[in-house]
Amino acid sequence: IQADIPPDPVRIAVIGGTGLQSLADFTHVATLKPSTPWGTPSSPISILHHPSPQTGKPIPIAFLSRHGLHHELAPHEVPSRANIAALRSLGVRTIIAFSAVGSLQEDIKPRDFVVPDQIIDRTKGIRPFTFFEGGMVGHVGFADPFEPALATIVQKCGHSLAGEGVVLHDKGTVVCMEGPQFSTRAESRMYRSWGGSVINMSALPEAKLAKEAEIAYQMICMSTDYDCWHESGDVTVEMVMGNMKANAENARRFVGAVLDELSKEEHGDLVLAKHLEGSMKFAGGIT
Ligand code: ADE
Repeated sequence: IQADIPPDPVRIAVIGGTGLQSLADFTHVATLKPSTPWGTPSSPISILHHPSPQTGKPIPIAFLSRHGLHHELAPHEVPSRANIAALRSLGVRTIIAFSAVGSLQEDIKPRDFVVPDQIIDRTKGIRPFTFFEGGMVGHVGFADPFEPALATIVQKCGHSLAGEGVVLHDKGTVVCMEGPQFSTRAESRMYRSWGGSVINMSALPEAKLAKEAEIAYQMICMSTDYDCWHESGDVTVEMVMGNMKANAENARRFVGAVLDELSKEEHGDLVLAKHLEGSMKFAGGIT
């Protein structure tokens, strides 16, 4: 990796999506431009300092903008392998990933948040989606694509902000489609019939690669539209951006509360993803 490695290993990263391209409330201490065998990440990685709520000691947090600093990368152009490899090489073991999503359910209203626990893969296989190739064979368990212990923390933090207007759904299935076009009406209805809760273009291959890298990974989704199945009108980019912007303050508050909680000493082992260490050791050799 070619970068000025910060003195303390960074264990926690935030991957920001549409509408969350920076975390302004934190002290910026370094900008890293790592390169990896899989290319350069979507954006320079900002190292931010977040004071531990218990000791005041600064906790380093890495922030990466998934679609680039100026939203120049379409979902299928995001270099997810470089993103995950670069974060891992800094020491990251926990990722909170943020994503704007369309809602596939009436009760998930635009501007509501969802902590997904499942994914349906509707990408088209054109995105590089594994680190295991070129003679290295690996089959990773992906039954639970997100980290349940992180989900519990995220749920608690989201509900603590109910007074500020954060509406949170504790579970949900995210359909990850290829894009960049939105779904047809028939597809949107089909995803509803499959039990999809929300839809985006970003959960994969990010979640798969994090799993392969033994990183604890949880996505926070913010609903920006009702896709095109709902009578209120079809999704447009203006709709996505408008709702994202209108609720950006809550998104930042939410991520901030999660970082506050994760910075507590009691979550030290979780943040280090000790339970995932070595989980890839026996992933190979069953073809
Ligand atoms: N991201 C935000 N809204 C979306 C939608 N309706 N479909 C796919 N990705 C989205």
